[in-house]
Amino acid sequence: AGFTTVDLSPMKEGELRTVTWRGKPIFILKKPPEENCNTIPDETKKRLVKVGDSEYLVMIGLCTHLGCIPSWEPDKKTFHCACHGGEYDACGVNTFGPPPRPMDIPPFKIEGTKLVLG
Ligand code: FES
Repeated sequence: AGFTTVDLSPMKEGELRTVTWRGKPIFILKKPPEENCNTIPDETKKRLVKVGDSEYLVMIGLCTHLGCIPSWEPDKKTFHCACHGGEYDACGVNTFGPPPRPMDIPPFKIEGTKLVLG
């Protein structure tokens, strides 16, 4: 109980999926190939999930400022929070504005090509 399973295999590079887990939006981004994020290497590594040859980013889709839901901007490869102008890179790390820290990482594990949240 309380687990949410998402099959990652049909996702395309640069595609964002949002699923609900325990009432929260969870962002799953299949990493665009050219995107390495602007962030310090350790923070980026923590956030990258490898499944076969593909990499995914998994984060709780709530702004760490006051909890709005940031939107993914595929052209800029950033997340933008409309509430107070916060910005995050594709790895979910805060790069501009009031957010005090990266988007949080939910508990999860990988089983084959499936992401299991919880
Ligand atoms: Fe996102 Fe304030 S809630 S910038």
